[in-house]
Amino acid sequence: MTQTELRVTIRGEMDVTRAVLDAGRFARDFGFAEAASMMISTAVSELARNILRHGGGRGELRLARVEDGHRSGVRVEARDSGPGIADVDRALEDHFSSAGTLGLGLPGVKRMMDDFEIESEPGEGTRVCACKWRVA
Ligand SMILES: Nc1ncnc2c1ncn2[C@@H]1O[C@H](COP(=O)(O)OP(=O)(O)O)[C@@H](O)[C@H]1O
Ligand SMILES: [Mg+2]
Repeated sequence: MTQTELRVTIRGEMDVTRAVLDAGRFARDFGFAEAASMMISTAVSELARNILRHGGGRGELRLARVEDGHRSGVRVEARDSGPGIADVDRALEDHFSSAGTLGLGLPGVKRMMDDFEIESEPGEGTRVCACKWRVA
């Protein structure tokens, strides 16, 4: 049976690598073309790295197949119980980083995926959810 859900606990670099490889396979097995599969695994990479760097160092990445009437796709969800994001709009701007890095992770994920949302409460954690729809 084909896999319909994938979960990877993120606690270190090795988990990021595993999540990226598993996500690429998950997307290709579901019929995504190579370029789209790479966008999904790149999104997973950025979100998993954000958990390590900004999100308290541990969290979870989940991928699931989703259906929406006539279309199907993959939903990527990243959750952590870290410090949260005080200003989500700012975090989505190109080159904004509180860590002195590139600041292209979240805006990049938003561009690469079709649907994108962030829920974050300072002190409570962060949940990022993004879907990519398969072009028939
Ligand atoms: N999981 C998270 N928890 C808390 N803050 C986050 C999280 N993910 C992103 N952020 C905040 O959003 C900013 C922008 O993230 P991103 O675009 O990935 O750039 P970078 O990782 O290079 O800083 C981060 O610098 C950080 O302040
Ligand atoms: Mg980042």
